[in-house]
Amino acid sequence: MTLMAKRILIGVTGGIAAYKTPELVRRLRDQGAEVRVVLTAGGAQFVAPLALQAVAGHPVYTHRFEPAGSGMEHIELARWADAVVIAPASADFLAKLAHGLADDLLSTLCLASATPLWVAPAMNQQMWRATAVQANVATLRARGVGFVGPASGAQACGEVGVGRMSEPGEIVSAVADSFGVPVLAGRRVLITAGPTREAIDPVRYISNRSSGKMGYALAAAAVRGGAQVSLVSGPAALDAPANVKFTRVNTARQMYDAVLAQVGECDIFVAAAAVADYRPAQIATKKIKKNAETLSLSLVRNPDILRVVAARAAPPFCVGFAAETDAVEAHALRKLQDKKLDMIIANAVGEGLHTGFESDQNAVVVVWAEGRREFATMPKTTLAQALMTMIAEHYAAKNPA
Ligand code: PMT
Repeated sequence: MTLMAKRILIGVTGGIAAYKTPELVRRLRDQGAEVRVVLTAGGAQFVAPLALQAVAGHPVYTHRFEPAGSGMEHIELARWADAVVIAPASADFLAKLAHGLADDLLSTLCLASATPLWVAPAMNQQMWRATAVQANVATLRARGVGFVGPASGAQACGEVGVGRMSEPGEIVSAVADSFGVPVLAGRRVLITAGPTREAIDPVRYISNRSSGKMGYALAAAAVRGGAQVSLVSGPAALDAPANVKFTRVNTARQMYDAVLAQVGECDIFVAAAAVADYRPAQIATKKIKKNAETLSLSLVRNPDILRVVAARAAPPFCVGFAAETDAVEAHALRKLQDKKLDMIIANAVGEGLHTGFESDQNAVVVVWAEGRREFATMPKTTLAQALMTMIAEHYAAKNPA
């Protein structure tokens, strides 16, 4: 795994482990990363800005508003970074992150950044175990923040336990691994995401609860894995992930057309969209008035995009999703066989679940002809990374170089 040309922003907060940060910066640069460092006032008590500047090859940022700066350093740095890594991350800084405080450059840019955030906590073992710290850790994990460590061992304060900052090599590996799946380099991945909307009249439509989060996370993970990615999305309140070809559609038939126009050039097709199976047979040209006590809608079948793609003469590697309220795995297996897919990802959906539709988290079972693998509840961003890795491995096994 390499960090060639990746832009890593290192945040250093107050803690004795800050003496390891210059080594972390050096190792990141050895892997080809470009590194910028932001030092908090607490961090500067433990490591000199000049030491970090020497290894980063670039001046260290210490103030929210640098005297000679633009006043927008927090935004510029947030946009610049491919990943933000806080090492060491103090208990105080974890609390700031969890609660959205923004009283210095580092905390402000973390709020302004949409890139993956990693923390390598370092603190006294009793502090790490404190209920308040663990609550903050749980909040951050649920938001998709990546944790490296803390490790266990002898501490600077003389105590022994969990709280030591992980070694720089471990932090570098975790960040490098998160960037991806080398087998996707040069691959073309087409992904559908979000719901579709099927008009009833000029102001009403039939749709579903899909937010697009799962499909967009998969697209971002495929980009990180080096793939050329095309995302066809139904209406979703999300920004298009960076570096994807983005096509926005409304209806199932528009999604079908957009997919069929591109599928000939793709190696892998992932159908994460919740496509409406039916649409109104007629779309009223004027708003339907509530004159009658009951109203019947006649529905007709939409094309099954995934089925059509998988039935092509030379289909791409086809991955479907199955959203089920009951007998999740059994229904998924039937869809895998029936639609002749390479793999299907089954998730439970329905009332009261904190996974599936809309949620930031998901739990899935991946099923293919010879096996299955479960993924417990985790952020969709993390899950997407694991799923794209699996898809890449199965694709490579089916298409040996
Ligand atoms: O968008 P989120 O809020 O993040 O939620 C994620 C999700 C729950 C929508 C996602 O994880 C998911 O399960 N997507 C598929 C939902 C679905 O429509 O499943 P299905 O079992 O009805 O369809 C089976 C497969 O066929 C799916 O891959 C679907 O994209 C595809 N299909 C279905 C109908 C159709 N007309 N065309 C299709 O391509």
